[in-house]
Amino acid sequence: MKTIILLTLISSTLFVNPSSYLMEVKKYSSVEFGVTKSDKAYQVLTNKCNVCHKTQNPRKVFTRENMNALAPKIYKQVFVRKRMPRGNKIKLTNVEYAILENWLLTLNLK
Ligand code: HEC
Repeated sequence: MKTIILLTLISSTLFVNPSSYLMEVKKYSSVEFGVTKSDKAYQVLTNKCNVCHKTQNPRKVFTRENMNALAPKIYKQVFVRKRMPRGNKIKLTNVEYAILENWLLTLNLK
C-alpha cells in the first residue's frame, strides 16, 4: 500500500511539473515575471546613464556584459561621490536609486 502511494506521488510530480508550467506562464505573460535585480538595474543604466554616455562617454556605455565589472565604479560615482548622473537634466528617482542599490548588494563589492 505504501509503495502504491509513493509511486502515485512520484508520478504525479513528474507529470505536473510546476517549473515547466511556470516557463509557459513566463513566455506569455506581459507582467514582470522572472525579472531579476540585474535586469532592472540594466534598465536604469540604459535609460539614465547610457542616454548620455552614448555621446559623452562612449567608452563607458553599460551593457549586460560589462555592468558587473563596472559595478564598483558605478557605486563610487552614484553613491559615494554622487557625480553621476551628471548635470541637472537627468535625475534618478528614489526607486531607481533603490534598484541600483539592490543590484549592487547582490555583487558583494569590497
Ligand atoms: C549627462 C551626461 C551623463 C549622465 C546622465 C551620466 N553620465 Fe556618467 N559620465 C559622463 C561623462 C562625460 C563621463 C566622463 C568624464 C567624467 O568622469 O566626468 C562619465 C563618467 C562616468 C564613469 C567613470 C568615472 C571614472 O572616472 O571612473 C562612471 C562609472 C559613470 N559615468 C557612471 C554613470 C552612471 C552609473 C550614470 C547613471 C546613473 C551616469 N554615469 C550618468 C556623463 C554622464
